[in-house]
Amino acid sequence: MPAHSADATTAEEGLAIQEEQAKLDSKFATDVAMQNTLLTPRFYTTDFDELDAIDVSPVREDWDALIAQMEADPNKGHFKKDESWDHVDWENMDPALKKEFIDFLISSCTAEFSGCVLYKEMKRRGNNKDITQLFQLMARDEARHAGFINDALREAGVAVNLGFLTQKKKYTFFRPKFIYYATYLSEKIGYARYITIFRHLEAHPEHRFHPIFKWFREWCNDEFSHGEAFALLMKTDPKLTSGVNVLWIKFFLTAVYATMYVRDHQRPAFHEALGVDPDWYAHEVFTKTSELSKQIFPITLDIDNPRWQRNLERLHRANVAIAEGKKQGGVAGKLKQWIGSARAALTFAALYTIPAKKHRVPESTRLEPAY
Ligand SMILES: [Fe+2]
Ligand SMILES: [Fe+2]
Repeated sequence: MPAHSADATTAEEGLAIQEEQAKLDSKFATDVAMQNTLLTPRFYTTDFDELDAIDVSPVREDWDALIAQMEADPNKGHFKKDESWDHVDWENMDPALKKEFIDFLISSCTAEFSGCVLYKEMKRRGNNKDITQLFQLMARDEARHAGFINDALREAGVAVNLGFLTQKKKYTFFRPKFIYYATYLSEKIGYARYITIFRHLEAHPEHRFHPIFKWFREWCNDEFSHGEAFALLMKTDPKLTSGVNVLWIKFFLTAVYATMYVRDHQRPAFHEALGVDPDWYAHEVFTKTSELSKQIFPITLDIDNPRWQRNLERLHRANVAIAEGKKQGGVAGKLKQWIGSARAALTFAALYTIPAKKHRVPESTRLEPAY
């Protein structure tokens, strides 16, 4: 067995290596990763038989090219510390930044690992060679990503016990089509997030306060390929991206974008340290993700409509009120939470009803990472 999860060629191998180190993992980080709220990453399960029944022959040519590229495994061995890993002075890090950054790492690790457990399970349950092969490759990548973030957390004295999480975290059931929309979007938005930070720090290296950001380019290329795979899966069945399903696509676009906005705005010190205005960052990531998602979705959200930004800010404020209410406790605190939740729901509806932009979807979905 290889010594590091970066060299593992299967998800199982990578996880076994992480498990070895789990003895040292912290209860704090694992507790955070266990949380299931609207804003924290969840674990998913689905109807694996339905997924297994997909016939990829309509997209065979693109499919084979993508699988060959993933099998070539250009990022094998990439996700581990090397000589360019600078020393991180956790002791003297500004406490607000340290808190937010650790929160960012735990949440990213949980999200990566959420992909890993879902993909690994599909590979385990399936019989369709195309599908199991794809999911095995994607699980391999996500295990490396999660393992690498956990390595970074371990230096700060906290790390997530991934084995415990697999067994104990609640799994949310999603029908396969919802898995396609949600996972496709989270892969593509993940690409857009990582590449935007990478390019920004390339131009402003003085803001690179942690070495993990140097790994983001190769990282986002993995996410890009995963997104390509889901685009191809959706392409096999035109019904998935037409008719009433367009309303579901709009729902997932709105939910994924809004969640990102609110979550990022909970971390002002982190964004300040990066030298990034969270509003600029959100708009940049939405623009890139929208551009990419035109490969398969017939609509994009009108992120330049004035109602969009206004309601995102309103949603953020509602979320702050909910958090304050929770902290406050008692009847007044509960009341504050309820009002905040009602306001958040109404604001989400306001975002959802902004008219979308329509597009003609190209014949072939295939894209290359260009940002
Ligand atoms: Fe990943
Ligand atoms: Fe991914």
